[in-house]
This record gives sequence, C-alpha cells and structure tokens, in this order.
Amino acid sequence: MITISASMPHSYRDVSPEELDARIAAAKDTLGSQLLILGHHYQMDEVMKFADVDGDSFGLSRTAGSRPEAEFIVFCGVHFMAESADILTNEQQAVVLPDLSAGCSMADMADIDQVERAWDEIAKITDITRVLPITYMNSTAAIKAFVGRNGGAVCTSSNAQAVLDWALAPNERGERRADKILFFPDQHLGRNTATAMGYPQESMALWNPHERQGGLEESVIKSASFLLWKGHCSVHTRFTVDQINSFRTKNPEGVVVVHPECTQDVVQASDASGSTDFIIRFVESSAPGTPIGIGTEIHLVKRLAERYPDRAIVCLDAEVCPCVTMSRIDAAHLAWVLEELVAGRVRNQIVVPEAIARDARVALNRMLSII
Ligand code: 13P
Ligand code: SF4
Repeated sequence: MITISASMPHSYRDVSPEELDARIAAAKDTLGSQLLILGHHYQMDEVMKFADVDGDSFGLSRTAGSRPEAEFIVFCGVHFMAESADILTNEQQAVVLPDLSAGCSMADMADIDQVERAWDEIAKITDITRVLPITYMNSTAAIKAFVGRNGGAVCTSSNAQAVLDWALAPNERGERRADKILFFPDQHLGRNTATAMGYPQESMALWNPHERQGGLEESVIKSASFLLWKGHCSVHTRFTVDQINSFRTKNPEGVVVVHPECTQDVVQASDASGSTDFIIRFVESSAPGTPIGIGTEIHLVKRLAERYPDRAIVCLDAEVCPCVTMSRIDAAHLAWVLEELVAGRVRNQIVVPEAIARDARVALNRMLSII
C-alpha cells in the first residue's frame, strides 16, 4: 500500500480551538462540493461536528462508494476504513486520512502472511474448497483481497449474520456455499454471531496464528464449523458482566446495549447488541426516562448522553477507555489536511494498489450485494 504522507507542522498545535474551527469551516467552504468529510461514530466532537456524513463502518463504506462527484474524501476514522473507501471510489477521487497513525489494534492482529499460512495449513487437513474466508471490515486491504480471491466476503458488525447466512445457509436445492468458515480477525464478533445463529460452542474453535495449525488438533480443524481467529478489540473487551450487574443493581429498570466486539458473556448478559449505528437507533427508540448502560467507545456514549439527557445514559465501564487511535484524528489534523487541499496539495492520501484493490473490491462488493 502506498501512502503519500507528511507530518502536520507543529504550528497547528498552537492554534486555539476557536481558530481551528474557523479555519476548518473556511476551508470546507472553499472546497465546496469537491469535498466530502466522513466521520465514524467514535470520532471526537471537535472533528465530528464537521462531518458531512456520519456512520458506522458499513454505512461509511457504502457512502464512500456512492459519491463519485466528491474529488476529495477526508475520512475521519481509522486506516482500514480509509482503505475500504479508496477501494470503493474511482481513480479520480483521493481518500485522505488526516493522521496516518490512526490504525486499529484489532486489524493489526491478523497479517496477510499469517492468514495465507493458516489457509495452507487448513488445506492440508480438510477440503479447502468447502471452506470460506470471511473477514471483518477491521482488516487490511491485503486480507480483504485474499478473501475476495478465495470466494469469501467482508462483513461488518451490522451485517455479520447476513454474511454468515449467505455463506452457510442451504439454497433451494439444499446446497451450501461452504461447510466451514475461517473468520478473522475478531473472535468475539465471530462467536457472538455464530451463537446468535444457533451454532453450539463445540462447533467453534479458536485459531491461534502464533501456533502451528492454529494450536488445534487435526480432528478439531476437520469438525469445526467456525475457525475463529484469536484477535480482539482492546476497547470492547474491557466490558464485563460485573459492570452490567452493578449497573442493573443501581438501575433495576435500566437496559443494557453493547457492541458485538464484547466478549460472549457480556453480549449474553445484555439486553441487545449491535453495531454503532444499531446502538444509536436503540437509544433513539428507548422511552424517555430509561436508564441505559452502554458498552462501546466513550466518544459515542458521551455524544448520546448529551443528545438524550432524558435517558440517563452511562458507559458501563467507569474507567472509560477511549479508542486511542480513533482519537488521533483531531481538529488540528483536520484543519491541516483541508488547508493543504485548498493549497492544491493532497496530504496523507490512502492509495491501495490496484492489484490488491481489484480482489478486495470483490470481497467488499459481495458484502454490499448481500445486504
Ligand atoms: P462499527 O462497525 O460498529 O462501525 O464498528 C467498527 C469498530 O471499529 C468498532 O470497534
Ligand atoms: Fe479497532 Fe477497537 Fe478502535 Fe474499533 S474500537 S477501531 S476495533 S481498536
């Protein structure tokens, strides 16, 4: 992957929040319809207030692909999201990530070499033509391309069940696309989704990429319906059942909603779970006065608490932990990349080479066609 990068000049650090706001607004004005700013729900307010479209990772990837008129797409989110936007946009469009160090620790838990090695190991043990790779959106473009080449699809937290159904449900002739799924990189999204679909725990095995054959016996690899990659989100795995119990003790009439990257015991102890967009809709549709305990990234929880003061919204984890990489996109970086665009310079462009983008697009478009 090639990125045209540069560091933000230090002077931007000394600009007051008010001046940054004014400069971002002025640059937006100048760029007009050439510019589209996308904001993921975990972004800080100082950035989110300038987003033309906000959304979860699925909604934003769909938006990116449906705005061919926008010459510059400034993606306020993390690296894998900007890569997906670049794959789904045309050659005339430039996708910009305001700070290139905004990655995702979960996406880093699977690299393409590990995935290819896993695939080869599985192929020695079982009929690989009956295995489909499914990757969570939170993965590199190279992994998405691998999935596209091998008949699989991308999924997000808002459509994981539909994608797994597409892979495993028998058609009218009783034929299934696959008997086994290699799901990466988030074991929890995989396990929570498979459980919601009615699969028993014994049908799932944890694939440890740091061990030979994933650390599994041949018989387990043969019999499992799901080989779940040993990856996780360090933000969502902080939520615990104890936190839910303590929220319920304080709020007997309260409800709990969490993201499916949480561990299975947390998801099962909650009233509902779903993507960031789902969590927003859940809050919107709850009755005023309802106390709501939320298990997701703190910037979204805080925004919801401010937007719905009558719902008594709290984060389940009192020692809230933000997604540090999402927070790297701040108003200073946004102002800098926009002012550079006004000056005719595209900074921090995310460019996925076409040889990778072509196959990754297949996996992304499969997802988009399933929904
Ligand atoms: P969404 O798919 O809900 O946007 O979540 C993406 C993500 O990174 C959550 O940690
Ligand atoms: Fe990655 Fe977790 Fe941050 Fe989402 S919240 S971007 S999965 S580290």
